[in-house]
Amino acid sequence: MLDQNQTPLLDTLKACAKSPHAPFYTPGHKRGVGISQKIADVFGQTIFRHDLPELTELDNLFAPAGVIQQAQELAAAAFGATQTWFLVNGSTCGIEAAILATCGTGDKIILPRNVHSSVIAGLILSGAIPIFIHPEYDPILDIAHSITPHAVAAALQQHPDAKAVIMVYPTYYGVCGDVRAIAQITHQYNIPLLVDEAHGAHFAFHPQLPTPALQAGADLSVQSIHKTLGAMTQASMLHIQGERIDCDRLNKALQLVQSTSPSYLLLASLDAARQQMALSGKELISRTLQLAEEARTRITQIPGLSILQIPPCLKKGEIGFSCPPLQGGLGGSPGLIALDQTRLTVNVSGLDITGFTAEEILDQQLGVTAEFASLQHLTFIISLGNTQEDIKQLVQAFTKLTQMTSSVTKKREYKHTVLWDDIFNMGHFVRISPREAFFAATEALPIQETTGRICAEIVCPYPPGIPVLMPGEIITQPALEYLRQIQAMGGFISGCADASLDIITVVKGNF
Ligand SMILES: Cc1ncc(COP(=O)(O)O)c(C=O)c1O
Repeated sequence: MLDQNQTPLLDTLKACAKSPHAPFYTPGHKRGVGISQKIADVFGQTIFRHDLPELTELDNLFAPAGVIQQAQELAAAAFGATQTWFLVNGSTCGIEAAILATCGTGDKIILPRNVHSSVIAGLILSGAIPIFIHPEYDPILDIAHSITPHAVAAALQQHPDAKAVIMVYPTYYGVCGDVRAIAQITHQYNIPLLVDEAHGAHFAFHPQLPTPALQAGADLSVQSIHKTLGAMTQASMLHIQGERIDCDRLNKALQLVQSTSPSYLLLASLDAARQQMALSGKELISRTLQLAEEARTRITQIPGLSILQIPPCLKKGEIGFSCPPLQGGLGGSPGLIALDQTRLTVNVSGLDITGFTAEEILDQQLGVTAEFASLQHLTFIISLGNTQEDIKQLVQAFTKLTQMTSSVTKKREYKHTVLWDDIFNMGHFVRISPREAFFAATEALPIQETTGRICAEIVCPYPPGIPVLMPGEIITQPALEYLRQIQAMGGFISGCADASLDIITVVKGNF
């Protein structure tokens, strides 16, 4: 039984930072001595003193045999994995490596279309062929949920030669699909279920949260420890269990997508975040859940607002928005069997404004900053770092927003013509593989001339980072309209060469 009090990596980093010696290694600032005064004034020297390279005592991320290995073993035990890898390039690199470890060029992988852009990057790197399945979709709320067991079973029946299934669990909105059933179906074909659990790192530490993907039978899970727990930005973990993942190949893949100079600040923050959760996770999350519940109860009472939640009137496992008139999503289904109660998604369409407008007012006038906005919603992450005061401010801000919108901005009519689903309902027009499209000869065309052409870049509203167009897909009119609509309403488009979207890069010629 491992002692979860220990923080081997953090302790050794601390000892190395204290040990007196003349440093003739990277980084060039030499334990903070060479930093500019300006940054010293902001960060202080301590952080630089601990910004060390792979000294002998500090082990090696890509061949761990010392303190990194010990820290990873402790993490594996705490998160319920048989093996855990620390990641310094976010879940992004973990997801890319998971795809590279399971699929090669021409191999099929089954996945939802509402994947994060890191999955598309994994497809480009590996040359895998995406077999997209439609996630369950709520047309009233314009929110895509999880893929369903039924859809996965149908896809596997049609493509029994697929090499892996990947699912997002939970979605950015905290919605969880039936990962247990999907794992069982996937395993009937003896292939692995890979889970993008970037937003679910906290699940293992409280019984009221959705079941962690590994516990429900997933073979591999990638978690952004920095998103919902106490690690530094980018610090993430990849966990596996069972025999379906080839660890050698995964090791090699992780080396392809990560720096050869991993930051020990990030690695040590993973060690500390794991210890914190192993020792006090339940208590910290109970408090977080209480704060979230308080916010939910109070915001629900504000006229014009509703919150994505499990209404008491519905059976356990069913979810929907809390109050009339927004009844979309009611009547739970296999695409949404649980909800992360620490994630707060507020629907503002009852105020006749978009989520983008609400975000701007909240951020710039009312001192509250959301995680992300979409056309109808604002999503807030409530975590162990939030305080009672934050919740008070959030509730007050929404109360003020309602007053402001009823008097000032009411004329900004809420308008919503193309839904996310319109883009994908027409079928997935993957004409060539994402990799082929990425490396093909391309040309930049005015957006109005791109309909029917093959897209050569990722075009992605961010956050949430779910691409509307990706390399290899036929560009459709609804997709362009949807992007224009997001832009017009204040959303930000990323991933493409021209963020203003006047020009889109397409593959040259016709296929
Ligand atoms: C669903 C999902 N998967 C993966 C990622 C990538 O995670 P990271 O930022 O840790 O690289 C994100 C980031 O927002 C995400 O939302």
